[in-house]
Amino acid sequence: MATSADITAGEGTDSKSIIAHRGASAHLPEHTLEGYALAFGMGADYIEPDLMLTKDGVPVALHDRTLDATTDVADRFPDRAREDGRSYAVDFTLEEIKMLRVRERVDPSSGGLLYPERWENTHDALVLRVPTLAETIELVRGLNRTTGRRVGVYPEIKFSSWHAEQGYDFEAVVLKTLRDYGFTSKNDPVFVQSFEEGSLRRLRELGCELRLVQLIGGGRAFDRYCTAEGLDRIAAYADGIGPSVTRILDSDGTLIDDNFLVREAQARGLVVHPYTMRADAVPKGADSFGNLLEAVLFRAGADGVFTDHTAETVDFLRNRANAGSRDD
Ligand code: G3P
Ligand code: CA
Repeated sequence: MATSADITAGEGTDSKSIIAHRGASAHLPEHTLEGYALAFGMGADYIEPDLMLTKDGVPVALHDRTLDATTDVADRFPDRAREDGRSYAVDFTLEEIKMLRVRERVDPSSGGLLYPERWENTHDALVLRVPTLAETIELVRGLNRTTGRRVGVYPEIKFSSWHAEQGYDFEAVVLKTLRDYGFTSKNDPVFVQSFEEGSLRRLRELGCELRLVQLIGGGRAFDRYCTAEGLDRIAAYADGIGPSVTRILDSDGTLIDDNFLVREAQARGLVVHPYTMRADAVPKGADSFGNLLEAVLFRAGADGVFTDHTAETVDFLRNRANAGSRDD
């Protein structure tokens, strides 16, 4: 039975949105129902599934086009790699993908864990599987019902153009799934995000009225969005931006004093959700996770953050709110 502590898990955290980046990624392998449930329990406001399509066109929660870094595909299907030696999710049916075991992300160059201190499955008893978008929504809806909370989903359409080249209408499939679960309007607890403007525009073309977020990477290809004209352009089809944190901090990891991007985006009615806050990979100039969150959420004034560390972010916001109320 849910306790009052569970039910209020995300409260007392101001109005800042905590987006559980790939689940509870610091504590369990990314994109697993177990990780999503943990992030929910830790107090996330949104659960973030990155999406890829299977061969039979089902949206599944995976970050990479290939399955190699996060599953045992090479052991299970040794002969299915493409010429580049990698196994692509889109070459496998849902039934086949469901046979894979999800593991903590490895660094392909070393074969070791990308984040060495994170979870590692040292025995075979526990089997983690790749979730579908539908399963993710059902998990979150079910937990909302049993806890009285209103946690949302924040799916990212990955590699839209590439999927189109493979013959799929990714946006139509995602939109149908969201509609099947009753998500149709801006008032629903959903954001759909993409690095590709064309993907978000395609959603609008299909009649999507959900809130959309344009991701803005740190590379030069995205510089065009970080101007007054670029933000005007985004405001015509999206409701928010998801900039790399490197757009908020300078190259040392210290806060850019006058944050044009955050200020001007918000002036156009766009929410700002920078990615990705990691307590085990704090930029040098920020020095601590708390300093990082303080800089991004309060000094720059972002509306929320993508984080691998939901529990720590909830703690930070609660402690800050408590300290503020003691000062009143
Ligand atoms: O979607 C925000 C952030 O997750 C983008 O980066 O590569 O972790 O999907 P990535
Ligand atoms: Ca993402």
